[in-house]
Amino acid sequence: MKSWLITGGCGFIGSNFVRMAAEMEAGRIVVLDSLTYAGSLSNIAELTTRGRVEFCKGDICDGALVNDLFGVHGFDCVVHFAAESHVDRSILGERPFLRTNIEGTYVLVDAARRAWRNDPHEKRFIHISTDEVFGDLGPDDPPFAEGTPYRPSSPYAASKASADHLVRAWQRTFGLPAIITNCGNNYGPWQFPEKLIPLMILNAIEGRELPVYGDGKQMRDWLHVADHCRAIMTVVNRGEIGATYLIGGDDARTNLDVVHRICWAVDAELDRAPGTSAKLVRHVADRPGHDRRYSLDAAHLKTSLGWRPVENFETALPAIVRWYVEHKNWANELRTGAYRQYYERQYAGR
Ligand code: NAD
Ligand code: TYD
Repeated sequence: MKSWLITGGCGFIGSNFVRMAAEMEAGRIVVLDSLTYAGSLSNIAELTTRGRVEFCKGDICDGALVNDLFGVHGFDCVVHFAAESHVDRSILGERPFLRTNIEGTYVLVDAARRAWRNDPHEKRFIHISTDEVFGDLGPDDPPFAEGTPYRPSSPYAASKASADHLVRAWQRTFGLPAIITNCGNNYGPWQFPEKLIPLMILNAIEGRELPVYGDGKQMRDWLHVADHCRAIMTVVNRGEIGATYLIGGDDARTNLDVVHRICWAVDAELDRAPGTSAKLVRHVADRPGHDRRYSLDAAHLKTSLGWRPVENFETALPAIVRWYVEHKNWANELRTGAYRQYYERQYAGR
């Protein structure tokens, strides 16, 4: 029976993982989350009310709190999702990114190393990172692999790259039993509405403009959040200490392709005439420093641990659109005044 610390478990990927862990694994699960704009306790409400998951509202940068949690719960597995995660917000203001992603990761690795120093066996620290640490690819470059040099473009990516370096250094120097995973762009239920896919689904449902940055030919490697969570669980149970695993869905698409498929799926779900939502597409000024192409080679994870993605963007999309239609109240509760201010700042006059 493991004792788990899951940071950022009220965010998009974290809440999907907490749900999976609560179903698959016995043992105690503690979620540490400061509930920033991106975190919502309602994402895991059914698990906390059943007593299956213990929630602690707190900041990963609070060393005293984190050390105290290790002392009380004697964790043997940490899965670290907590982060400031949106590139556009990191361009508007980088400070929270440097604080949470770098300082917060430092607090966690150091607390884990101290707590586990006499008995690191059977312990695991899984650091959830991104393919954005590698920068972008030219049209003919091979996909990112575990040895690809770091070349982050955005403040977000630079802060995640720094965090990865800390985790790797703590593993190498202090023997922290750590593993790093770098995944592609996730999609699925419970994603905060500022990210491409939920933003386009919700705007299309509401008949609002669909703002595509630049020419929309940027490519991302899309990964269903359920496939991602299964990959993380595989790494928790069988991953090699000190290793890095890239997690990709083998589903690279341009942003325009993604947006047009969302338009078709929304029209179909709402019984609208085909082509209705596509009329809302508007090309807007590009993101500064916008990475052109990401693509991942997940061969290491596939061959060494036998994981494979089972979902596919095209076949998963209708169910995802339906999920956002059915969870409009959830989305409306998140799109508060602060969110509307962010939206205005990000998109008005663009
Ligand atoms: P998210 O923004 O939806 O959730 C982040 C969570 O962390 C929120 O619940 C928030 O309240 C919490 N948090 C933020 N700062 C905190 C702090 N200082 N202390 C405690 N909690 C704090 O993010 P996500 O999309 O679920 O991403 C999870 C992880 O996966 C991140 O580390 C991100 O870098 C990585 N990742 C995400 C994607 C993606 O497509 N979403 C892709 C690659 C990697
Ligand atoms: P995003 O979901 O922000 O993820 P990331 O920047 O981490 O890849 O964006 C995915 C892609 O969609 C990225 O190329 C930027 C683009 N994009 C738009 O064209 N319009 C938008 O309104 C948003 C949010 C993103």
